[in-house]
Amino acid sequence: MESISKGLEDVNIKWTKLTTIDGEKGILRYSGYQIEDIINAGALAEEIQYLFLNGELPNRSQLDLFREKIEAGYDVPDYVLNAITNLPRSSDVVALQMNAIAALAATEPFKWDKATNRDYAAKLIGQMASITATGIRHVLGKEPVKLKSSDSLARSFLSAVFDSEPSERAVAALNTALILYLDHEVPASTTAGLVVVSTMADMYSGVAGALAALKGPLHGGAAEAAAMQFKEIGSPDMVESWFKENIDSGKKRLMGFGHRVYKTYDPRAKIFKSIAENIGLTGEAKNLYEIATKLEKLGVNKFGPRGIYPNTDFYSGIVYMALGFPLQNNIYTALFALSRVTGWTAHFIEYVEEQHRLIRPRAVYVGPQERKYIPLQERK
Ligand code: ACO
Repeated sequence: MESISKGLEDVNIKWTKLTTIDGEKGILRYSGYQIEDIINAGALAEEIQYLFLNGELPNRSQLDLFREKIEAGYDVPDYVLNAITNLPRSSDVVALQMNAIAALAATEPFKWDKATNRDYAAKLIGQMASITATGIRHVLGKEPVKLKSSDSLARSFLSAVFDSEPSERAVAALNTALILYLDHEVPASTTAGLVVVSTMADMYSGVAGALAALKGPLHGGAAEAAAMQFKEIGSPDMVESWFKENIDSGKKRLMGFGHRVYKTYDPRAKIFKSIAENIGLTGEAKNLYEIATKLEKLGVNKFGPRGIYPNTDFYSGIVYMALGFPLQNNIYTALFALSRVTGWTAHFIEYVEEQHRLIRPRAVYVGPQERKYIPLQERK
């Protein structure tokens, strides 16, 4: 039988100048810049978004112009927000994002064109921010919202969701999360979106496809699933018995652990953990953090020798909770998507402009050989 590449493991589907991962050493670089250097330098998320869409870091006036393009997206049409508010408040927020993005796919006059692709992508970052803020507010019983201009996307987003001025610490933490989740080469979501745009469907449809793939618990859904797992454990002194019953027994996978590419610590997990350590956790977030650190030790002890370590989703939920986002309706995965929309669109542009070809793999047929069709009335 001809061989297949299960899970497309180690299959290269495109060239990229965007992100590189050294899975053995746990190194992540955005267009050559190491993730720790970007974060330690206090970069604004919009600078890195510009880097992904334009290949170089912006100077001040380039950044200002780019931010104007993002902010032009904040004012999404009401019918896009209605695509969210028409659905029940019990909805999954990632599915609400998909519905709103599908409304843009239905109405925006998009055409792939080198002269305008990046402007559409910048606007889409802004549109996604108002869509995500409205999706989160909707499941919390609040009215729709459109972001207002400020000195950063992170500040505008927090003000819009919570109707109040965020602290500088909260703005900095969300800004960092926006950078950490911005791109990760070609995981399932990016690949799904690339399949969509390889047919020359529009950028919005590509994002809707990517969102659908992100939603599952083996990918972006792990951002919520990991925090849910800490909540299920309940308290730090229950970690050992829970681990024995659920992980040692093989009943469950440890969420927020393991990665197709990293065979050591995901560098983003370390950064999220250090934000959690320094953000001044209280209440439930503090309790979940104590559970998580105990669980991390047991998980690394058991799985480390097999190259399975904490991934970016292990501590991110605790940071989101500390920022005031509740653990419900897949909100944490929707926040992941808010950031990743930049990586998705940057990969789509790179693919369509420089290396386009319809993605159409093959399957190895293993069913019955040629058979004679028997009409229904003659079948027993
Ligand atoms: N807990 C327990 N066992 C695990 C875990 C885990 N988190 N991850 C991998 N394994 C085991 C599998 O059971 C399997 O064991 P086996 O060979 O005895 O059957 C082996 O490791 C290989 O697992 P695969 O699923 O084939 O490996 P893959 O490379 O596809 O794994 C994945 C990647 C899907 C992320 C996996 O590690 C996983 O399910 N993790 C939990 C979910 C999660 O945290 N996802 C987020 C990933 S990061 C992101 O998308 C942002």
